[in-house]
Amino acid sequence: MTLNDHRFLRACRRQPVDRLPVWMMRQAGRYQPSYRAVRQKVGFLELCRSPELIAQVTIAPIDEIGFDAAILFSDILVHLPAMGLDLSFEKGEKGKGDGGPKIANPVRTRADVDALRIPDPGKDLPYVLDGVRAINAGLSGRVPLIGFVGGPFTVASYAVEGGSQGFTRLKTLLYAEPKVAHALFEKLTLAAIVQIQAQISAGAHAAQIFESWLGELAREDLEEFSFPYLARIAEAVKKAGVPAILFSTGTTGHVEAMAKLGYDVVSVDWRTPIQEVRARIPNVAVQGNYDSTILFGPKEVAVARAVQVAKAGATAPGYIFNLGHGIQPGTDPANVKAVVEAVQALKI
Ligand code: CP3
Repeated sequence: MTLNDHRFLRACRRQPVDRLPVWMMRQAGRYQPSYRAVRQKVGFLELCRSPELIAQVTIAPIDEIGFDAAILFSDILVHLPAMGLDLSFEKGEKGKGDGGPKIANPVRTRADVDALRIPDPGKDLPYVLDGVRAINAGLSGRVPLIGFVGGPFTVASYAVEGGSQGFTRLKTLLYAEPKVAHALFEKLTLAAIVQIQAQISAGAHAAQIFESWLGELAREDLEEFSFPYLARIAEAVKKAGVPAILFSTGTTGHVEAMAKLGYDVVSVDWRTPIQEVRARIPNVAVQGNYDSTILFGPKEVAVARAVQVAKAGATAPGYIFNLGHGIQPGTDPANVKAVVEAVQALKI
Protein backbone atom coordinates (compact mmCIF):
# COMPACT_ATOMS: atom_id res chain seq x y z
CA MET A 1 0.00 0.00 0.00
CA THR A 2 1.41 3.40 -0.90
CA LEU A 3 0.63 6.38 1.30
CA ASN A 4 -1.56 7.77 -1.48
CA ASP A 5 -3.95 4.88 -0.78
CA HIS A 6 -3.94 5.45 2.96
CA ARG A 7 -7.44 5.49 4.46
CA PHE A 8 -7.05 9.11 5.60
CA LEU A 9 -6.26 10.37 2.09
CA ARG A 10 -8.90 8.09 0.57
CA ALA A 11 -11.51 9.52 2.95
CA CYS A 12 -10.45 13.08 1.98
CA ARG A 13 -11.23 12.10 -1.62
CA ARG A 14 -14.53 10.42 -0.60
CA GLN A 15 -13.29 6.97 -1.62
CA PRO A 16 -14.33 3.84 0.34
CA VAL A 17 -12.07 2.87 3.27
CA ASP A 18 -11.41 -0.34 5.25
CA ARG A 19 -12.21 1.50 8.50
CA LEU A 20 -12.68 5.09 9.64
CA PRO A 21 -9.56 7.26 9.80
CA VAL A 22 -9.09 9.09 13.13
CA TRP A 23 -6.85 11.97 14.11
CA MET A 24 -7.36 14.82 16.57
CA MET A 25 -6.48 18.49 16.51
CA ARG A 26 -3.84 19.22 19.18
CA GLN A 27 -3.01 15.51 19.30
CA ALA A 28 0.50 16.69 20.21
CA GLY A 29 0.11 18.90 23.24
CA ARG A 30 -0.08 19.45 26.95
CA TYR A 31 -2.39 16.50 27.72
CA GLN A 32 0.61 14.25 27.01
CA PRO A 33 3.28 13.68 29.68
CA SER A 34 5.87 13.30 26.87
CA TYR A 35 5.00 16.77 25.48
CA ARG A 36 5.11 18.38 28.92
CA ALA A 37 8.55 16.86 29.47
CA VAL A 38 9.83 18.55 26.27
CA ARG A 39 8.24 21.86 27.34
CA GLN A 40 9.99 21.66 30.73
CA LYS A 41 13.21 22.18 28.76
CA VAL A 42 12.29 24.55 25.91
CA GLY A 43 9.91 27.44 25.27
CA PHE A 44 7.05 27.06 22.80
CA LEU A 45 8.64 29.09 19.97
CA GLU A 46 11.99 27.37 20.55
CA LEU A 47 10.18 24.05 20.11
CA CYS A 48 8.55 25.29 16.88
CA ARG A 49 12.04 26.26 15.57
CA SER A 50 13.77 22.91 16.13
CA PRO A 51 13.27 20.34 13.33
CA GLU A 52 14.38 17.51 15.63
CA LEU A 53 11.93 18.46 18.38
CA ILE A 54 9.16 19.12 15.81
CA ALA A 55 9.62 15.56 14.54
CA GLN A 56 9.74 14.13 18.06
CA VAL A 57 6.53 15.74 19.28
CA THR A 58 4.68 15.18 15.97
CA ILE A 59 5.45 11.45 15.96
CA ALA A 60 4.85 10.84 19.71
CA PRO A 61 1.00 10.67 19.44
CA ILE A 62 1.28 8.26 16.48
CA ASP A 63 3.39 5.93 18.64
CA GLU A 64 1.50 6.50 21.90
CA ILE A 65 -2.14 6.61 20.71
CA GLY A 66 -2.12 5.22 17.16
CA PHE A 67 -3.77 8.04 15.16
CA ASP A 68 -4.22 7.55 11.40
CA ALA A 69 -2.55 10.83 10.43
CA ALA A 70 0.19 13.04 11.83
CA ILE A 71 -0.08 16.84 11.90
CA LEU A 72 3.01 19.01 11.64
CA PHE A 73 3.85 20.52 15.01
CA SER A 74 4.06 24.27 14.51
CA ASP A 75 1.75 27.25 14.94
CA ILE A 76 -0.40 29.42 12.68
CA LEU A 77 1.61 32.47 13.83
CA VAL A 78 5.22 31.23 13.32
CA HIS A 79 5.70 33.35 10.17
CA LEU A 80 4.68 36.65 11.77
CA PRO A 81 8.23 37.62 12.85
CA ALA A 82 9.32 37.22 9.18
CA MET A 83 6.46 39.54 8.20
CA GLY A 84 7.78 42.16 10.65
CA LEU A 85 5.66 41.47 13.72
CA ASP A 86 7.20 41.04 17.14
CA LEU A 87 5.63 37.76 18.32
CA SER A 88 6.15 36.12 21.68
CA PHE A 89 4.29 33.56 23.74
CA GLU A 90 3.76 34.82 27.23
CA LYS A 91 5.68 32.94 29.86
CA GLY A 92 3.64 30.92 32.28
CA GLU A 93 4.57 28.07 34.51
CA LYS A 94 7.04 26.00 32.50
CA GLY A 95 5.48 23.03 30.75
CA LYS A 96 2.00 24.16 31.69
CA GLY A 97 1.39 26.49 28.82
CA ASP A 98 1.87 30.15 28.58
CA GLY A 99 -0.97 32.53 28.35
CA GLY A 100 -0.96 32.62 24.57
CA PRO A 101 0.49 34.78 21.80
CA LYS A 102 1.43 38.46 22.15
CA ILE A 103 2.32 40.84 19.32
CA ALA A 104 4.15 43.94 20.54
CA ASN A 105 3.59 45.96 17.34
CA PRO A 106 0.09 45.07 16.14
CA VAL A 107 -1.21 46.07 12.71
CA ARG A 108 -3.51 49.08 12.98
CA THR A 109 -3.01 51.39 9.99
CA ARG A 110 -2.52 51.36 6.22
CA ALA A 111 1.20 52.03 6.82
CA ASP A 112 1.38 48.98 9.13
CA VAL A 113 -0.18 46.80 6.43
CA ASP A 114 2.13 48.19 3.75
CA ALA A 115 5.16 47.43 5.91
CA LEU A 116 4.28 43.70 6.17
CA ARG A 117 6.68 41.47 4.20
CA ILE A 118 5.61 38.25 2.48
CA PRO A 119 7.82 35.55 4.01
CA ASP A 120 10.14 33.37 1.95
CA PRO A 121 9.63 29.97 3.62
CA GLY A 122 12.96 28.51 2.45
CA LYS A 123 14.87 31.42 3.99
CA ASP A 124 12.64 32.56 6.82
CA LEU A 125 11.12 29.28 8.01
CA PRO A 126 13.67 26.56 7.08
CA TYR A 127 13.02 24.78 10.39
CA VAL A 128 9.38 24.14 9.41
CA LEU A 129 10.41 22.52 6.10
CA ASP A 130 13.27 20.58 7.74
CA GLY A 131 10.69 19.54 10.35
CA VAL A 132 8.40 18.16 7.60
CA ARG A 133 11.29 16.14 6.16
CA ALA A 134 12.37 14.88 9.60
CA ILE A 135 8.79 13.82 10.43
CA ASN A 136 8.44 11.81 7.20
CA ALA A 137 11.83 10.20 7.80
CA GLY A 138 10.76 9.22 11.33
CA LEU A 139 7.35 7.97 10.24
CA SER A 140 8.80 5.92 7.35
CA GLY A 141 5.48 5.78 5.55
CA ARG A 142 3.31 4.67 8.50
CA VAL A 143 0.76 7.50 8.22
CA PRO A 144 0.31 10.61 6.05
CA LEU A 145 1.45 14.02 7.31
CA ILE A 146 -0.93 16.98 7.37
CA GLY A 147 0.66 20.40 6.82
CA PHE A 148 -1.21 23.55 7.84
CA VAL A 149 -1.42 27.31 7.86
CA GLY A 150 -3.78 29.74 9.55
CA GLY A 151 -6.63 31.30 7.63
CA PRO A 152 -6.37 35.04 6.88
CA PHE A 153 -9.18 36.10 9.24
CA THR A 154 -7.86 34.08 12.19
CA VAL A 155 -4.24 35.21 11.73
CA ALA A 156 -5.45 38.81 11.26
CA SER A 157 -7.31 38.64 14.56
CA TYR A 158 -3.98 38.10 16.40
CA ALA A 159 -2.05 40.53 14.17
CA VAL A 160 -4.56 43.35 14.69
CA GLU A 161 -5.63 42.75 18.28
CA GLY A 162 -2.06 42.00 19.43
CA GLY A 163 -3.05 38.68 21.02
CA SER A 164 -6.13 36.70 22.01
CA GLN A 165 -8.12 39.86 22.78
CA GLY A 166 -11.30 39.28 20.87
CA PHE A 167 -12.30 40.63 17.48
CA THR A 168 -13.58 44.17 17.95
CA ARG A 169 -10.58 46.01 16.48
CA LEU A 170 -10.37 43.72 13.45
CA LYS A 171 -14.10 43.80 12.77
CA THR A 172 -14.16 47.57 13.18
CA LEU A 173 -11.39 47.77 10.57
CA LEU A 174 -13.62 45.85 8.11
CA TYR A 175 -16.42 48.38 8.47
CA ALA A 176 -14.37 51.58 8.92
CA GLU A 177 -11.54 50.93 6.46
CA PRO A 178 -12.50 48.06 4.16
CA LYS A 179 -9.66 48.80 1.71
CA VAL A 180 -7.06 48.49 4.46
CA ALA A 181 -8.71 45.27 5.65
CA HIS A 182 -8.61 43.84 2.11
CA ALA A 183 -4.94 44.81 1.77
CA LEU A 184 -4.20 42.97 5.03
CA PHE A 185 -6.14 39.85 3.98
CA GLU A 186 -4.38 39.93 0.61
CA LYS A 187 -0.96 39.84 2.27
CA LEU A 188 -1.96 37.16 4.76
CA THR A 189 -3.37 35.09 1.89
CA LEU A 190 -0.12 35.32 -0.08
CA ALA A 191 1.82 34.43 3.09
CA ALA A 192 -0.44 31.41 3.65
CA ILE A 193 -0.09 30.24 0.04
CA VAL A 194 3.72 30.36 -0.06
CA GLN A 195 3.96 28.54 3.27
CA ILE A 196 1.54 25.74 2.43
CA GLN A 197 3.10 25.25 -1.00
CA ALA A 198 6.52 24.96 0.65
CA GLN A 199 5.23 22.42 3.19
CA ILE A 200 3.69 20.34 0.39
CA SER A 201 6.92 20.49 -1.65
CA ALA A 202 8.81 19.35 1.48
CA GLY A 203 6.48 16.32 1.83
CA ALA A 204 3.12 17.19 3.46
CA HIS A 205 0.41 14.83 2.09
CA ALA A 206 -2.61 17.05 2.87
CA ALA A 207 -3.17 20.66 3.96
CA GLN A 208 -5.50 21.98 6.64
CA ILE A 209 -6.40 25.65 6.81
CA PHE A 210 -7.09 26.65 10.45
CA GLU A 211 -9.69 29.39 10.16
CA SER A 212 -10.76 28.81 13.76
CA TRP A 213 -12.56 32.08 14.46
CA LEU A 214 -14.53 32.42 11.23
CA GLY A 215 -17.79 32.04 13.15
CA GLU A 216 -17.34 35.64 14.34
CA LEU A 217 -18.40 37.01 10.97
CA ALA A 218 -21.86 37.58 9.52
CA ARG A 219 -22.60 35.92 6.17
CA GLU A 220 -22.20 39.10 4.13
CA ASP A 221 -18.83 39.80 5.75
CA LEU A 222 -17.71 36.22 5.12
CA GLU A 223 -18.59 36.69 1.47
CA GLU A 224 -16.73 39.94 1.17
CA PHE A 225 -13.74 39.50 3.49
CA SER A 226 -13.10 35.78 3.81
CA PHE A 227 -14.48 33.40 1.19
CA PRO A 228 -12.60 34.84 -1.84
CA TYR A 229 -9.29 34.50 0.05
CA LEU A 230 -10.09 30.99 1.32
CA ALA A 231 -10.96 29.96 -2.25
CA ARG A 232 -7.56 31.16 -3.48
CA ILE A 233 -5.77 29.15 -0.79
CA ALA A 234 -7.79 26.03 -1.73
CA GLU A 235 -6.88 26.53 -5.37
CA ALA A 236 -3.17 26.76 -4.52
CA VAL A 237 -3.34 23.56 -2.45
CA LYS A 238 -5.20 21.73 -5.22
CA LYS A 239 -2.59 22.87 -7.75
CA ALA A 240 0.06 21.40 -5.48
CA GLY A 241 -1.81 18.08 -5.78
CA VAL A 242 -2.93 17.25 -2.23
CA PRO A 243 -6.32 17.32 -0.45
CA ALA A 244 -7.36 20.62 1.14
CA ILE A 245 -9.24 20.74 4.48
CA LEU A 246 -11.03 23.83 5.78
CA PHE A 247 -11.36 23.98 9.59
CA SER A 248 -13.48 26.53 11.42
CA THR A 249 -15.82 26.77 14.39
CA GLY A 250 -19.22 28.34 14.85
CA THR A 251 -19.90 28.20 11.11
CA THR A 252 -22.33 25.35 10.52
CA GLY A 253 -24.90 27.97 9.47
CA HIS A 254 -22.68 28.50 6.42
CA VAL A 255 -21.59 24.98 5.43
CA GLU A 256 -23.32 25.01 2.04
CA ALA A 257 -21.38 28.16 1.10
CA MET A 258 -18.13 26.80 2.56
CA ALA A 259 -18.50 23.56 0.60
CA LYS A 260 -18.30 25.59 -2.63
CA LEU A 261 -14.88 27.12 -1.92
CA GLY A 262 -12.87 24.28 -3.48
CA TYR A 263 -11.94 22.31 -0.36
CA ASP A 264 -12.08 18.51 -0.41
CA VAL A 265 -12.97 18.36 3.28
CA VAL A 266 -14.97 20.69 5.53
CA SER A 267 -14.20 20.28 9.26
CA VAL A 268 -17.01 21.29 11.61
CA ASP A 269 -17.46 21.83 15.34
CA TRP A 270 -19.84 19.95 17.65
CA ARG A 271 -22.74 22.40 17.59
CA THR A 272 -24.63 20.67 14.77
CA PRO A 273 -25.15 16.88 14.52
CA ILE A 274 -22.71 15.36 12.04
CA GLN A 275 -25.46 13.55 10.11
CA GLU A 276 -27.13 16.90 9.42
CA VAL A 277 -23.87 18.35 8.14
CA ARG A 278 -23.27 15.35 5.88
CA ALA A 279 -26.80 15.57 4.46
CA ARG A 280 -26.40 19.30 3.76
CA ILE A 281 -23.03 19.05 1.96
CA PRO A 282 -22.96 15.61 0.28
CA ASN A 283 -20.42 16.72 -2.33
CA VAL A 284 -17.47 17.16 0.03
CA ALA A 285 -15.89 15.02 2.73
CA VAL A 286 -16.62 16.01 6.33
CA GLN A 287 -14.31 15.95 9.36
CA GLY A 288 -15.27 16.26 13.01
CA ASN A 289 -17.13 16.82 15.24
CA TYR A 290 -16.80 15.18 18.67
CA ASP A 291 -16.90 17.63 21.57
CA SER A 292 -13.40 17.47 23.12
CA THR A 293 -14.81 18.17 26.59
CA ILE A 294 -16.38 14.68 26.59
CA LEU A 295 -12.80 13.32 26.52
CA PHE A 296 -12.49 14.33 30.17
CA GLY A 297 -14.69 11.32 30.91
CA PRO A 298 -16.07 9.18 32.36
CA LYS A 299 -14.32 6.90 29.87
CA GLU A 300 -17.47 4.83 29.12
CA VAL A 301 -19.39 8.00 28.25
CA ALA A 302 -16.51 9.25 26.09
CA VAL A 303 -16.36 5.96 24.19
CA ALA A 304 -20.13 5.59 23.80
CA ARG A 305 -20.47 9.12 22.38
CA ALA A 306 -17.52 8.56 20.04
CA VAL A 307 -19.17 5.45 18.62
CA GLN A 308 -22.43 7.37 18.20
CA VAL A 309 -20.73 10.29 16.37
CA ALA A 310 -18.62 7.96 14.22
CA LYS A 311 -21.65 5.93 13.12
CA ALA A 312 -23.64 9.07 12.37
CA GLY A 313 -20.75 10.48 10.31
CA ALA A 314 -19.96 7.31 8.41
CA THR A 315 -23.21 7.11 6.44
CA ALA A 316 -21.33 7.55 3.14
CA PRO A 317 -17.66 7.54 2.05
CA GLY A 318 -15.82 10.74 2.94
CA TYR A 319 -15.88 10.92 6.74
CA ILE A 320 -12.88 11.54 9.02
CA PHE A 321 -13.37 11.20 12.79
CA ASN A 322 -11.92 14.20 14.63
CA LEU A 323 -12.88 16.69 17.32
CA GLY A 324 -14.88 19.87 16.92
CA HIS A 325 -11.82 21.76 18.20
CA GLY A 326 -8.56 20.67 19.89
CA ILE A 327 -7.76 18.27 22.74
CA GLN A 328 -7.76 20.27 25.98
CA PRO A 329 -4.95 20.29 28.54
CA GLY A 330 -5.80 18.01 31.46
CA THR A 331 -7.46 15.36 29.28
CA ASP A 332 -6.53 11.81 30.33
CA PRO A 333 -4.49 10.23 27.48
CA ALA A 334 -6.10 6.88 28.37
CA ASN A 335 -9.52 8.31 27.41
CA VAL A 336 -8.12 9.58 24.10
CA LYS A 337 -6.68 6.16 23.37
CA ALA A 338 -9.92 4.37 24.27
CA VAL A 339 -11.90 6.65 21.93
CA VAL A 340 -9.44 6.20 19.06
CA GLU A 341 -9.46 2.41 19.47
CA ALA A 342 -13.27 2.27 19.65
CA VAL A 343 -13.66 4.25 16.42
CA GLN A 344 -10.96 2.20 14.68
CA ALA A 345 -12.71 -1.04 15.69
CA LEU A 346 -16.06 -0.01 14.18
CA LYS A 347 -17.32 -2.05 11.24
CA ILE A 348 -18.49 0.39 8.60
O1 CP3 B 1 -3.16 20.46 16.02
C1 CP3 B 1 -1.95 20.25 16.29
O2 CP3 B 1 -1.62 19.42 17.14
C2 CP3 B 1 -0.88 20.94 15.50
C3 CP3 B 1 -0.17 22.01 16.17
C4 CP3 B 1 -0.88 23.32 16.33
C5 CP3 B 1 -0.65 24.20 17.44
N1 CP3 B 1 -1.35 25.35 17.23
C6 CP3 B 1 0.21 23.91 18.58
C7 CP3 B 1 0.10 24.74 19.78
C8 CP3 B 1 -1.78 23.97 15.50
C9 CP3 B 1 -2.40 23.46 14.23
C10 CP3 B 1 -2.05 25.24 16.06
C11 CP3 B 1 -2.93 26.22 15.41
C12 CP3 B 1 -3.27 27.43 16.14
N2 CP3 B 1 -2.43 28.24 16.84
C13 CP3 B 1 -4.55 28.02 16.12
C14 CP3 B 1 -5.73 27.50 15.37
C15 CP3 B 1 -6.23 26.24 15.96
C16 CP3 B 1 -7.05 26.39 17.16
O3 CP3 B 1 -6.70 25.84 18.20
O4 CP3 B 1 -8.10 27.05 17.03
C17 CP3 B 1 -4.48 29.18 16.88
C18 CP3 B 1 -5.64 30.11 17.18
C19 CP3 B 1 -3.14 29.33 17.33
C20 CP3 B 1 -2.56 30.44 18.13
C21 CP3 B 1 -2.17 29.93 19.46
N3 CP3 B 1 -1.11 29.08 19.70
C22 CP3 B 1 -2.78 30.22 20.70
C23 CP3 B 1 -4.01 31.10 20.88
C24 CP3 B 1 -2.07 29.54 21.67
C25 CP3 B 1 -2.30 29.60 23.16
C26 CP3 B 1 -3.38 28.70 23.57
C27 CP3 B 1 -2.85 27.42 24.17
O5 CP3 B 1 -3.41 26.36 23.89
O6 CP3 B 1 -1.89 27.51 24.95
C28 CP3 B 1 -1.04 28.80 21.03
C29 CP3 B 1 -0.07 27.92 21.67
C30 CP3 B 1 -0.01 26.50 21.17
N4 CP3 B 1 -0.05 26.11 19.86
C31 CP3 B 1 0.16 25.34 21.98
C32 CP3 B 1 0.24 24.25 21.11
C33 CP3 B 1 0.46 22.79 21.47
C34 CP3 B 1 0.33 25.34 23.48
C35 CP3 B 1 1.73 25.77 23.73
C36 CP3 B 1 2.34 25.22 24.95
O7 CP3 B 1 2.19 25.82 26.00
O8 CP3 B 1 3.06 24.19 24.87
